[in-house]
Amino acid sequence: MGAFKNKDIISISELSNKDIVKVLETAKKLEKSPKPRLLLGKVLATLFFEPSTRTRLSFESSMNRLGGRVLGFADAKVSSASKGETIHDTIKVVEKYSDVIVIRHPLEGAARVAAEATKKPVINAGDGANQHPTQTLLDLYTIKKTQGRVSKLKVAMVGDLKYGRTVHSLANALGRFDCEFFFVSPDSLKMPDEILDELKEMGVKYSEHKLVEDVVKKVDILYSTRIQRERFPDEEEYNKVKNIYILKEDLFKGVKKNLKILHPLPRVNEIEVEVDNTKYAHYFEQAGNGVPVRQALLGLVLGKLK
Ligand code: CP
Repeated sequence: MGAFKNKDIISISELSNKDIVKVLETAKKLEKSPKPRLLLGKVLATLFFEPSTRTRLSFESSMNRLGGRVLGFADAKVSSASKGETIHDTIKVVEKYSDVIVIRHPLEGAARVAAEATKKPVINAGDGANQHPTQTLLDLYTIKKTQGRVSKLKVAMVGDLKYGRTVHSLANALGRFDCEFFFVSPDSLKMPDEILDELKEMGVKYSEHKLVEDVVKKVDILYSTRIQRERFPDEEEYNKVKNIYILKEDLFKGVKKNLKILHPLPRVNEIEVEVDNTKYAHYFEQAGNGVPVRQALLGLVLGKLK
């Protein structure tokens, strides 16, 4: 049995470096040699209790491209969660209808609760401000493709480091590959202490900054993030920081030749559209990489790839 068969993908920290490399290599093979019948007869349930474009549609595309089928509700408001059904009960039912479950939920820990309710594999598509492990895997895939490696890189993470689950997961993963971090945020949106403590324990080098200009010429990757309006308890606090970092073309004069700008998307106005036409912009390619990476995960957790 492959080590991935029936594995839940809840937090990136539960995947070893070897597991991560396995997913990236499997994605590369699937991109080169598609397997349109691999998951024939298998059903994916997508339970999205928060909005999504990329994660949901790339999981659906992945399942369809592997010959499997997808079910899910169009909007959480039309599911029985709106009548008060718990995550546990929802999963106990959905496991009867499907072979693998992908869940996104506003509550931190929701994916873990879902995984504990079933023996079927559960994949976390984002739980509140906590983790987004499949985004991290596609970020790593993009970094490997565009930089030739994921190790020993200098990485700036810019924007909402407090509520941004993508940067929480990515810091853990890249930290394990000996990368150095430059965290750029206002005081109110700094990287949480538990993530910084984890990096300290791992012996990872990092520094904190307020201005992108102070770090942009030093780094190989600039990972921009949206200010997560939906997580602010107070609209006034959001308004104070909503436009704090807007990346403009001028900023990229004199940067390293290999600089890549990544962003998990959606962007609101963190990156001006003119930047899209520069050689540094790779965020749309990054979103596209969600398909081979999520295909790899589905094939592995369903035991159809080893
Ligand atoms: N990156 C990401 O999670 O995008 P969606 O919210 O559109 O799924």
